[in-house]
Amino acid sequence: MQPTVTPEAIDEIREEALGKLDSLEDLDEVESWRVAYLGRKGRLSSILRDIGGLPQEERRAVGAVGNRSRSLLEERLSQRLEAIKSAGLAGLADTDRIDVTLPGRPIAVGRLHPTTQIVREICSAFMAMGFQVVEGPEVEWDRYNFELLNIPRDHPARDMWNSLWIDHRNERGEHNMLLRTHTSPMQARVMEKMRPPVRVIVPGKCYRYEATDATHEWHFYQVEGLAVDDGITFADLKGTLYEFARRVFGSDRRVRFRCDYFPFVEPGVDMSIDCFSCQGGGCRICRDTGWIEIMGAGMVHPKVLEGVGYDPRVYTGFAFGLGPERIAMLKYGIDDIRLFYSNDLRFLRQF
Ligand code: PHE
Repeated sequence: MQPTVTPEAIDEIREEALGKLDSLEDLDEVESWRVAYLGRKGRLSSILRDIGGLPQEERRAVGAVGNRSRSLLEERLSQRLEAIKSAGLAGLADTDRIDVTLPGRPIAVGRLHPTTQIVREICSAFMAMGFQVVEGPEVEWDRYNFELLNIPRDHPARDMWNSLWIDHRNERGEHNMLLRTHTSPMQARVMEKMRPPVRVIVPGKCYRYEATDATHEWHFYQVEGLAVDDGITFADLKGTLYEFARRVFGSDRRVRFRCDYFPFVEPGVDMSIDCFSCQGGGCRICRDTGWIEIMGAGMVHPKVLEGVGYDPRVYTGFAFGLGPERIAMLKYGIDDIRLFYSNDLRFLRQF
């Protein structure tokens, strides 16, 4: 049977196709539409293929209608595609768009904790004088924390350090392990391992069973110092600590030593610097005294030397201990030690 391809049949298919096109919502629907009308087996393609079977005189005119219809559908198809694509973009949230002209997000740069900074500053002042940095355990034996430091069990001197004991006992049932209350146990540990000359400083964390307030924390840092050799005198202690004070607090500092008691030194002292804030006139920082205490120190007690096997008739030495948080508080005018470990970024970012 001869197919009947008429201009009217072509018009009908074209109009039907155009009528559907505007209601297509997404790219999948448009593709189905294309296959249905313009695809190889699509309705318009099929009918146009039959034009070849028409008599010569009709072929031209019908062919022209067919070609125009196909061009029109193709043109409208691509318009519809564009419309759907730009509508889709417009529907994107602002956050999905990339504005390549925006400046980049700044990368947050971390910094050292103020305690770490001041510990390093203290250590480098002593390193410049030939001291070597060593570290030790925070969980310590009673033997090092107290006994070898001339603080026997049950001696009232132990009351100077409120201790956090570990649940661990010796064969007599006594607690023998604790969180170190100071860095001084490293004096004994270092001397057990080394022969003189000894010149070490020991930065590290200490713990005390303490009610906290503006000047007391239950954990804090100390920097311990120890120098032992034959012929070391109190003059060496004074000279070394004087030099330290000038390096950290300014070259015009004066120092003051007063008698103080620590069981592991004899004589023992506390060292003060003249107030860098009021230059000695009296102010809040120095509590109107003109002086600020910054550390404990003294000549190593002969019993401590004996305990680690040093002959006290040959060797002498000095030791000192200072609190870096206190030094930082003085240097930077911080009025509450609890700020150091409360992790408040508004505080920490200032250093
Ligand atoms: N360890 C002492 C304290 O914590 C400080 C100190 C160290 C004193 C060394 C003298 C010598 O109080």
